[in-house]
Amino acid sequence: MKEVTRKMMTDVALFAMSQVAFYYAFKYVMSSLDPNRQKRQDTKKVADAKLGRLGLRGKDLELNEYEEQISAELILPEDIPVDFASIGGLDGIISSLQESVIAPLCYPELFANASGLLGAPKGVLLYGPPGTGKTMLAKALAKESGATFINMHVSTLTNKWFGESNKLVAALFSLARKLQPSIIFIDEIDSFLRERATGDHEVTGMMKAEFMTLWDGLTSSTDRIMVLGATNRPNDIDSAILRRLPKRYAVSLPSAAQREKILSIMLSATLLDPKFSMTELVKRTEGYSGSDLKELCRNAAMRPVREFLRSKAGRESVAERRRLAAAGVGSGVGSGVDNTPVGALTPSEGEVVATAAPASKIESRPLRNSDFFVIDSAATPVNGSRSGPMAVDEDPLD
Ligand SMILES: Nc1ncnc2c1ncn2[C@@H]1O[C@H](COP(=O)(O)OP(=O)(O)OP(=O)(O)O)[C@@H](O)[C@H]1O
Ligand SMILES: [Mg+2]
Repeated sequence: MKEVTRKMMTDVALFAMSQVAFYYAFKYVMSSLDPNRQKRQDTKKVADAKLGRLGLRGKDLELNEYEEQISAELILPEDIPVDFASIGGLDGIISSLQESVIAPLCYPELFANASGLLGAPKGVLLYGPPGTGKTMLAKALAKESGATFINMHVSTLTNKWFGESNKLVAALFSLARKLQPSIIFIDEIDSFLRERATGDHEVTGMMKAEFMTLWDGLTSSTDRIMVLGATNRPNDIDSAILRRLPKRYAVSLPSAAQREKILSIMLSATLLDPKFSMTELVKRTEGYSGSDLKELCRNAAMRPVREFLRSKAGRESVAERRRLAAAGVGSGVGSGVDNTPVGALTPSEGEVVATAAPASKIESRPLRNSDFFVIDSAATPVNGSRSGPMAVDEDPLD
């Protein structure tokens, strides 16, 4: 009898062990068949690192698999090089954003009143022509607002498996709630939340519907979450979405005074000729966007550098660089470049060499108004639009 019992117990133990082994083997095979495994592992690593740097790892923050995927989109303030001081001419928008959006979002206790009318809006839209600083403003907000900033890429929300996109959208809002106060930023929001059409893919439609429902579910009393959108095509946005973005800021092409501020910020670290006239430059840049002005300054700043590269000292320093690069010393920039005369350097090559050359060797002279206006003459607006300069690098140096 004892013999039989022992045999039975051994059988049961063996069976249990084989089941456990089968379970793990099955799990291993299934996970190695999962095409997204590597991607998920990479995302998890990024998410872990970000949460760790935010000081949130391991605390009482339990995240599910989807929330972890979304947390890879978190933006850390220290990673952003832009702050409010580097934006020119948008002071009105910045102070309004700080007073009526950020303050109620981050310090709701200051705004608590019986009517509940003083809360932060649930949605804010920045709209205006391309290159006027909308994305830049959002980046500065991420750095300076003190709220958790989720830079939502639509590609993260789209998943080829049915139903996964909806789970990711749900995770976006639940993560934002766990880390509140939070700002969910969607750049080029028109491409994600555009006018719904009958030809839309079913999954896209479902994703939008889920997004809108969850957005509506935000209650101002407890949830401190805001959706921030930026677009240069506000008319393409679904009207139901526009309703959810009640606070709208028009970021238009800069006026003369705004251009002056933008230019002084951009040229603040550049040596300017005593005869340099800011007024003239401002006058000649009518219709330029912030990004056009940036390009204008960059091209102008390159002129003295290119002059230097064509001078005897410049040619010598470039030749020296090439020699070092060929010998495998230094950054390696320029290796494999043939012996083209320096005068024939394309501007982009010139730029690379300029950055590679030791800073002390580039003795660039102060910038003059003419440095800007040479480029100006080649900058024909596209189709008569008020757009700024096209790529203009082939200007002859006289
Ligand atoms: N007001 C500004 N002050 C300083 N720099 C600016 C300003 N506006 C634009 N710029 C410069 O132009 C670049 C492009 O701006 P940004 O990406 O914010 O434009 P955008 O409005 O988002 O354009 P788009 O609608 O095409 O996305 C910025 O990186 C910055 O260098
Ligand atoms: Mg943008």
